[in-house]
Amino acid sequence: MNGETSGGPGAAAEAGSGPQGAMLPASGMEAWGFAQALIHSRQTMMPRRLHAPGPDAAQLQDLLALAAAAPDHGQLTPWRFVLVPEAERGRLAEVFALALTDRDPAASAEQVAAARDKAHRAPLLMVVVACLGTRDPDIPALERLVSVGAAVQNLLLGAHALGFGTGLTSGKAMASTRLRALLGLPDGDVPVCCINIGTVRQHKPRQGKRPAPALFMSTLGAAETVSTSGEDGS
Ligand SMILES: Cc1cc2nc3c(=O)[nH]c(=O)nc-3n(C[C@H](O)[C@H](O)[C@H](O)COP(=O)(O)O)c2cc1C
Repeated sequence: MNGETSGGPGAAAEAGSGPQGAMLPASGMEAWGFAQALIHSRQTMMPRRLHAPGPDAAQLQDLLALAAAAPDHGQLTPWRFVLVPEAERGRLAEVFALALTDRDPAASAEQVAAARDKAHRAPLLMVVVACLGTRDPDIPALERLVSVGAAVQNLLLGAHALGFGTGLTSGKAMASTRLRALLGLPDGDVPVCCINIGTVRQHKPRQGKRPAPALFMSTLGAAETVSTSGEDGS
């Protein structure tokens, strides 16, 4: 566990066997309660609120192993996580700055400095890349993107369980040819966002409620399909 924050939901339960012999971390109800606590308590932390320490090398490997447990049609591993260590942050900052001035040559010095700063905030920064080019078997890009999202979420939840704060950042620089060049990406590999991980010194409750299931669930054949009522009351 990351000793500096109480952001995570607590230590993982003892290993055990769940329903139908499935390998759950605890009995069914314990696992359910833990999963609910873990998932509901994850929240985006902006990189400026993430401080050292970030995950160490062993923790990072454990987190990447969680990413590898994502559903992956065709076992294509359609994601890449490119770690940007401290020594390389300057090159990423330069790409962020130039991506801005490419788009807006009139960008102010403050805007350019803010773009640069995005590369320097979190103790751990990785660029998420989706591998969407043709491969065999030819699984549609949309399905691969679902796998990438699942891999990212596994990693975020794992980092949260370790007690770290996490946040995704993206922006127009993700589409810059300069970023592609920096990362040495082949055609079909697309930068999606950055994963930022670090220690949260002061926990700030998340603003806003999650959407109620009725907003995004419908039943085929039912008279009314999608409800337009508001958010849940939890
Ligand atoms: C691919 C992706 C990119 C994101 N990029 C940004 C970003 O650039 N800036 C930002 O503030 N949040 C970004 N987010 C985070 C979302 O804004 C955040 O997940 C959402 O507001 C829900 O908040 P929560 O994570 O606390 O539940 C990104 C999320 C995803 C999935």
